[in-house]
Amino acid sequence: MTQKTLLTGPTLRFSGNPMTRPWPDVVTLDTEGAVLISGGMIEAVGKAAELRAAHPEAEDVAHGKHRLICPGFVDAHAHYPQTAIIASWGKRLIDWLNDYTFPEEMRLADPAYARKIAERYLDLILANGTTTVASYCTIHPHSVDVLFEAAEKRGQRIVAGKTCMDRNAPDGLRDSAQSAYDDSKALIARWHGRGRATYAITPRFSPTSTPEQLSALGALWAEHSECPMQTHLSEQVDEVAWVRNLFPSARDYLDTYETHGLLGERGLYGHAIHLEPREVDRLAEVGAALVHCPTSNTFIGSGLFDMAGLAARRIPIGLATDTGGGSSFSMLRTMAAAYEIGQLRGTPLHAAQLIWLATAGSARSLHLHDRIGSLAAGMEADLCVLDLASTPGIAQRVAEAESQWEALFATIMMGDDRAIAEVWVNGVRQ
Ligand code: GUN
Ligand code: ZN
Repeated sequence: MTQKTLLTGPTLRFSGNPMTRPWPDVVTLDTEGAVLISGGMIEAVGKAAELRAAHPEAEDVAHGKHRLICPGFVDAHAHYPQTAIIASWGKRLIDWLNDYTFPEEMRLADPAYARKIAERYLDLILANGTTTVASYCTIHPHSVDVLFEAAEKRGQRIVAGKTCMDRNAPDGLRDSAQSAYDDSKALIARWHGRGRATYAITPRFSPTSTPEQLSALGALWAEHSECPMQTHLSEQVDEVAWVRNLFPSARDYLDTYETHGLLGERGLYGHAIHLEPREVDRLAEVGAALVHCPTSNTFIGSGLFDMAGLAARRIPIGLATDTGGGSSFSMLRTMAAAYEIGQLRGTPLHAAQLIWLATAGSARSLHLHDRIGSLAAGMEADLCVLDLASTPGIAQRVAEAESQWEALFATIMMGDDRAIAEVWVNGVRQ
């Protein structure tokens, strides 16, 4: 008989989207909750006493009142090859890419180095409670293989793709329209749907792809519409001006994707800060997802994402670290930065909204919300148990808290990997 495990303690549950409905109507923090895990899946979520009585055979893992059993965090946009250059000083996007990122991505031409970074990266994110990531790789197909292999070894659900670039990148870091198509197609055949792997078609962004390459990847997406497609959109003002020069006949940045078959419901557009009204209208019409990368947007000096305005248009929005343009591997730190950007725009997010974005919201943006991102029967058992009193500074604040939401907010704002008490991947404690 399959071994069952019953985690008891405060649990977090969602019944709807707190970005479009009042959060108290759709987010519940149950101080006497429990999650029953069986065979890598969540079998039931409910009251501890009831599930305990119904499943006396289940192994008990009890958590106290300063814990919170959450879904594992889902990071909807990261670049694992940039792990070793995170927190590089003083550049804006284009110089940052040329001076720090591209030289480091070239080092991943060595498969042994790529494997070392992939392993290191997955260890770091798991220590931070992130159970699923959507990561860019490098132009080298083996950089995709090593990441999927490392995730498979850990049992992790993962989304990844070969980054495609055939211009405005150094020698050794360019493919071609044809090889990007061929390599990506072969990687889809090798990885998409194997175990917990999802392949994402990945043109880096319009400035590093010729129209021919964008078209080739658009054609590939049409052949494999089951795959997500991830790219960057309107991150910095200089970048938007560059796109206008490179694509003089395009109506706007989004149009450079749309005219090449790269706008669709399974599209994930990272950053999306400096959008024109037409772009917002099209994204809303199509149902494409945006990914907010707040530590990156402050660190590289990109601007303030309009979370409230875009969520009001019902555009799906995920939350992400954007490692290593982002300055942290932690989704807690990322939630804190999203809160701060909300404050700067006069629209602060509640703790319930922040944690929803980092779990179910990101899962929704990746079209994986029927499998991960929330605690509910039938979901895969990827969990993160938070310690809400992980440091003396947080503990003294929590001692004064009048609700669990106040306590959680202190950990969101001040917490790091020390706040991750337990991580469960596919029903297995890490
Ligand atoms: N735009 C194109 N490539 C990148 C990248 O690697 N990081 C960020 N932040 N923006 C990009
Ligand atoms: Zn990025």
